[in-house]
Amino acid sequence: MSLISPWRSDFPALSALAAEGQTYLDSAATSQKPQPVLDALLGYYASGAANVHRAQHLPGERATRAFEGTRMRAAQWLNAANPAEILFTRGVTEAINLLAYGLEHLFQPGDEIAISALEHHANLLPWQQLVLRRQLKLVVLPLDDRGLIDLEQARQLIGPRTRLLAVSQLSNVLGRWQPLTELLPLARSQGAITVVDGAQGAVHGRHDVQAMGCDFYTFSSHKLYGPDGVGVLYGRNEALGRLKHWQFGGEMVHTTGYQTADFHGAPLGFEAGTPAIASVIGLGAALDYLGNLEAATIAGHEAALHAKLLAGLGARDGVRLLGAPELALASFSIDGVHSADLAHLLTEQGIAVRAGHHCAMPLMQTLGVQGAVRVSLGLYNNGDDLERFFAALDKALELLR
Ligand SMILES: Cc1ncc(COP(=O)(O)O)c(C=O)c1O
Repeated sequence: MSLISPWRSDFPALSALAAEGQTYLDSAATSQKPQPVLDALLGYYASGAANVHRAQHLPGERATRAFEGTRMRAAQWLNAANPAEILFTRGVTEAINLLAYGLEHLFQPGDEIAISALEHHANLLPWQQLVLRRQLKLVVLPLDDRGLIDLEQARQLIGPRTRLLAVSQLSNVLGRWQPLTELLPLARSQGAITVVDGAQGAVHGRHDVQAMGCDFYTFSSHKLYGPDGVGVLYGRNEALGRLKHWQFGGEMVHTTGYQTADFHGAPLGFEAGTPAIASVIGLGAALDYLGNLEAATIAGHEAALHAKLLAGLGARDGVRLLGAPELALASFSIDGVHSADLAHLLTEQGIAVRAGHHCAMPLMQTLGVQGAVRVSLGLYNNGDDLERFFAALDKALELLR
């Protein structure tokens, strides 16, 4: 199979970066943007910025229509039952903070929140802090050798005290789909609220939140080839009804006096203040762009790249993969080499990869590593991006060993 991305030329940043000698292999951190997203951003500003949901004038009406158009597209993208189940946040981090505050009133001391050992800090710290505020217990579901949440142990640990389960769909370090098909019903059968962190999962394939059967699902636009500063929180209608308001200000209030107020429900009641209007419009353009591509062709291209990545790493002495990644990325350490030194030498050769703890410090401790280098792929990567990476890796290892 050809390892040339047919979509690469849609992303102007790739040639700009190449002209600077940069090879971009850090798409799990953030992605480059296709031309239609850039056009949408420029188009909004160039044709007249205006606030949404407030103004009667033409630019205000136009901005509101485009903004709400993205809500419709996001609902279709995730197969939500209703656009009102789509809330715009700043990203996954803000969405999970919203949930940790908005659901706080449902927890009693001694209740349990279950997460897994592989969670990104964004799906750990908001729950950890809620646990501390309300004297709850944080239960951490362990992993098996492949980097999957261990279902046997999950069955022991998820029980009647579990009030909420929050897990990642696809790990940003281990690159494996997590067994949500088993985990979510397990939590639901105990009456727990279910939250899925789709930050990485949303980027690979289409996901149907109704079929998944979660209460909440969240992703960030910037990883899904859209602009930064915006994310989506899907909430099942009944689950949204249990949320208390958390940020207060313009446009989320129905009526207010000096002393009391009553608030809109979802979605506007959870979008206080002026939102990231241009970014929301840009996200709509990203979803349109992706919706016009053949999902199976993208998956095939990404799978071929990933196989090449794993084969190349496997062919080099001393490379230790974290887990057994099945798509999108590979994190690794090298015996006797500090990952920061390796990352430094790769950076000097124009290879843009991520090194460190990947915002998953407890996972690194569990795996017994200080840090790791992560190579991650986007739909625009070509096979020769990986060849440049491997050439740079070999050179770096010659110097370090
Ligand atoms: C699995 C996972 N969850 C959450 C996040 C946080 O996303 P954001 O920084 O866009 O809020 C990331 C970002 O790397 C991630 O990979």
